[in-house]
Amino acid sequence: MVRTAVNEGVLVATIDNPPVNALSADVRRGLVEALRNAAADPQVSALVITSSGKTFIAGADISEFGKPPQSPTFPELIQALEESPKPVVAAINGAALGGGLEVALACHARVAAPGAKLGLPEVKLGLIPGAGGTQRLPRLIGAATAFRMMRDGEPVGAAAARDLGIVDIVADSDLLVTASMHAREMARNGSRPAARDRRDRITEEDRAAFEALVKETARQMKEMPNVAALVETVRAVFDRAFDDGVALEREHFLRLIEDDRSKALRYVFFAERETSRVPGLSKDTQARPLRRAAVVGAGTMGGGIAICFANAGIPVTLIETSEEALARGIARIEQTYDASVRRGTLSPEEKQRRLGLIAGRAGLEAAADADIVVEAVFEDMAVKTSIFGDLDRITAPGAILATNTSYLDVNEIAAATRRPEDVIGLHFFSPANVMRLLEVVRAERTSSEVVATALSLGRALGKIPVVVGVCFGFVGNRMLSKRTVAAERLLTAGALPHEVDAAVTDFGFRMGPFAMADLAGLDIGWRTRKSLGQKAPVADALCEANRLGQKAGKGYYVYPEGARSGERDPEVERLIEKVSSELGIKRRSFTPDEIVERLLYPMVNEGARILDEGIAARTGDIDVIWLNGYGWPAWRGGPMYWADQVGLAKIADRLEAFAAETGDDSLRPAPLLRRLADEGRTFASLGGER
Ligand code: 3HC
Repeated sequence: MVRTAVNEGVLVATIDNPPVNALSADVRRGLVEALRNAAADPQVSALVITSSGKTFIAGADISEFGKPPQSPTFPELIQALEESPKPVVAAINGAALGGGLEVALACHARVAAPGAKLGLPEVKLGLIPGAGGTQRLPRLIGAATAFRMMRDGEPVGAAAARDLGIVDIVADSDLLVTASMHAREMARNGSRPAARDRRDRITEEDRAAFEALVKETARQMKEMPNVAALVETVRAVFDRAFDDGVALEREHFLRLIEDDRSKALRYVFFAERETSRVPGLSKDTQARPLRRAAVVGAGTMGGGIAICFANAGIPVTLIETSEEALARGIARIEQTYDASVRRGTLSPEEKQRRLGLIAGRAGLEAAADADIVVEAVFEDMAVKTSIFGDLDRITAPGAILATNTSYLDVNEIAAATRRPEDVIGLHFFSPANVMRLLEVVRAERTSSEVVATALSLGRALGKIPVVVGVCFGFVGNRMLSKRTVAAERLLTAGALPHEVDAAVTDFGFRMGPFAMADLAGLDIGWRTRKSLGQKAPVADALCEANRLGQKAGKGYYVYPEGARSGERDPEVERLIEKVSSELGIKRRSFTPDEIVERLLYPMVNEGARILDEGIAARTGDIDVIWLNGYGWPAWRGGPMYWADQVGLAKIADRLEAFAAETGDDSLRPAPLLRRLADEGRTFASLGGER
């Protein structure tokens, strides 16, 4: 786990704990032993700590959290580093994150490779740094800057870290040689500076800047206990002695490890990584090279997808039927990039470079040289099958043909070609250039190689790709449709849109279903319902009254000129009451808890069916979809994880009651949910079994 070698008086300890050099108990032991040996060896004047592989240290081993601590503990290691009688230099060869950066901060100097990244991302796991980071980093770079880094959890590059004062040297040539030379020089000078002794960066001015940032963070502090704890521990830098600050940090850290929100976020960390393990796909399945892409359809979705390719450096041809439609599409893409330039997140040069990667063409023939084509035209099977038939003829053998359909049968689309093994669904979420979720729809005959290519493409586009099977609406929209039906039912039963939305935002979503519907436009759902012969009395009545959502200035809410969000509208409330009375329903009130149950339990039920049918491989995949595509609050871990915390027996019983009350049999607990509930089990207990 830790190899050591002495070279001209410097003991180099190299951590070797693949895949990311997490600081497991063995690594901690190895480092403490190296420190002890160095102290005892008269031939050794200084130490260098580095790692093999591309990561320096990814932090504490997250999988050890919640297990009994093993000696040496993290704080014991940190103390041993700082108190080493011989100077210790961290040679940061790659990412130094969380506890990894804290190890480096406890060393007496830091030398980084130019490509290294340094950060304290614990906040994203519902934690705070727990090995002195909250006390050492502010002493090195000031409390305000350190707080911002820890609050956002975003790493900085080596050069920025040097400018801030985290890193002493960026090694332009050999990292180990530079670090060893620095270590020897420190030994010669008797220099062993410790971050804990620094006071110079902590000033009155810095305190004011820090408090201003705290004000900005009020909402996060209210939502997340770890953010409030972070504020308190960083504030201790001004008011308390170093050791007291560290003790306070430790106290919070140990408490937060046990917090349900942190447990959920740690679950999410692993669930997101597990999505890449796809049944039937081995690590050796080769992805095809994708040099050129084409996107058919230059609407909002097609344009967003083209931006994704350009942002990833892949040249893309955007295809439309007419020059006019093309011009509109390209203009929309330019507007999107212009907005980024205005926000300062994109330079004008970079905008030009990316626009240069997007070529607009009229006519499908322009897809001839693409290695992958993504079709993003409107949801009409006849149109799609005709396009796929043409693409099959136009594109070279081996080119992947993908559809961005959100509902339609990918098997049927694939059957329109002579290469169903090359056909796949790539379901992007709007806005496609922003949302991280990508549902990769594996049809019956899609080849493993094409699935592997879609996964590697998804990652290259900065997405979280999740493989799902073919069914109406796949995983995300299929579950969402259950919530939509439940939301409409709540309105006719007695709730009002703002009450439903408030219950959902209090649960942790950024937006409630009705505000969301207004934003997306009510006509899309209306059209789908009509084509399926379905009815939603309130939504239909709103559409008939031309209340199509925000774009019409009114939907479930009214949007006066200049208003940032919708306002209650008595007209809508009268309309809802009228619908209830026409349906002969006696309206009653609902508590927020009841609203949440009625909206979300049917979704969990559908998730159970999705699992049973093998449309999703694991509960974690369903959770990742909801977290990244539909705004499920991450600290609640996703719908299936949440259901386990609520208790499946409770959910099944409530669903039985809802079914009896409404006469809607689809609300009856799915067989899998019923079975797990009866056996007192959780979805998590399924593991790979089904
Ligand atoms: N502990 C345990 N396992 C870890 C880990 C960690 N800190 N970090 C990564 N892993 C595992 C992943 O689960 C994954 O396992 P798998 O192959 O079995 O799925 C494997 O390492 C590779 O990880 P990625 O797929 O994420 O690899 P990338 O190359 O894309 O990214 C990384 C590497 C940037 C280091 C990324 O893994 C990462 O951000 N890791 C987490 C960093 C973090 O949050 N550190 C803070 C931990 S808490 C802490 O340190 C507390 C301290 O203050 C006391």
